[in-house]
Amino acid sequence: MNSKEWIEKSDKYIMKTYGRFPIVPVRGAGCRLWDADGREYLDFLGGVAVNNLGHCHPKVVAALQEQAAQLIHCSNFYQIPQQIELAELLCSHSFADKAFFCNSGAEANEAAIKLARKYSREKFGTERYEIITATDSFHGRTMATVSATGQEKVQRFFDPLLHGFSHVPFNDVAAMEAAVSSASCAIMLEPIQGEGGVNVPSADYFREIRRICDKHNLLLIFDEVQVGMGRTGKLFAYEHFGVTPDIMTLAKALAGGAPIGAMLARDEVAAAFTPGTHGSTFGGNPLVCAAAIATLRVLLEEGILKRTVENGEYLTAKLETLAGKYPFVQGVRGFGLMIGMSLAIPAADIVKKGHARGLLLNVVHDTVLRFVPPLVVTREEIDKMIAILDGILAEVEA
Ligand SMILES: Cc1ncc(COP(=O)(O)O)c(C=O)c1O
Repeated sequence: MNSKEWIEKSDKYIMKTYGRFPIVPVRGAGCRLWDADGREYLDFLGGVAVNNLGHCHPKVVAALQEQAAQLIHCSNFYQIPQQIELAELLCSHSFADKAFFCNSGAEANEAAIKLARKYSREKFGTERYEIITATDSFHGRTMATVSATGQEKVQRFFDPLLHGFSHVPFNDVAAMEAAVSSASCAIMLEPIQGEGGVNVPSADYFREIRRICDKHNLLLIFDEVQVGMGRTGKLFAYEHFGVTPDIMTLAKALAGGAPIGAMLARDEVAAAFTPGTHGSTFGGNPLVCAAAIATLRVLLEEGILKRTVENGEYLTAKLETLAGKYPFVQGVRGFGLMIGMSLAIPAADIVKKGHARGLLLNVVHDTVLRFVPPLVVTREEIDKMIAILDGILAEVEA
């Protein structure tokens, strides 16, 4: 079937939760995708920060194929060696002692919210349950994570929201201090806000947040669903800020494109989850964990983090050159290969023009172009993307 035929069938059978573009990718390799008509695209969205190793990394493909032939699914009523091995890998490379596995970022954040509430209730009583999050945050689409998310456009239509969340501006220590009350049990933040516009905090923000948490006995939850797994040039983004959280959530890039979520915590906090208090049928099944182990090994052993830093600097410098050339480009910000270019104009048309020229880009917060390519992107691919973008921006100015 060609793209047009797939799109007609999609219109008939698929719910309209996404404003989908008329592109039908059917094959991928590295930073490139091909659609159902054989057209090639340079992918600077990477499945929204999922395909950190590029599309169909051979080691992830091999791990999936091998595991699929051995055992695809096994209930969490039993011990799952791949899950245990993945937990060991994640804990030995982070602050955490224990892991819980699920299937998505929202589900990982649900687990974090439930764990924080249960831990706090048992330690400090039933009156402490509130979680403070940030304006412009994004934590997922389930009811608890929609309630945690600090964006009205995500919450609209779904009242009543879950009780027990409050929101303060990101990167505002005084506002956070003022928001803490006797009902607070945790602060939940993205180290760098993704969907909210690639918002980078000031250097000492998280040290101040950690201080507030310690002062009031609050748990610090980092949502690293988008920025974890090497995206910022370190395995976890919190490593940039000189603080450790008590709980961290991961998903997106963790299993090289296979659906997974993880919630990691310190031992004392993790102990609040006792048998029967939380679970997920598919969470951490052998197939997805085998993919995640392969993904992590490639990330850790093949110099990808160093390459991310280098490519991030290279891409940032190129984007800054464009910013100097076009007055409607307001600035470039980010860490590693999580980069935003803010514009004084809506960015949707630029994205559409990119598609017409074989470039997949993305816009967040209406005016911010977000660049989250696979971390294995090459200099040549960055140059090619910049040339296409330069051509598009030149037309905007005209
Ligand atoms: C920071 C953050 N948290 C949570 C989520 C939700 O993840 P998922 O779509 O896998 O539920 C996202 C998705 O974009 C995200 O960026």
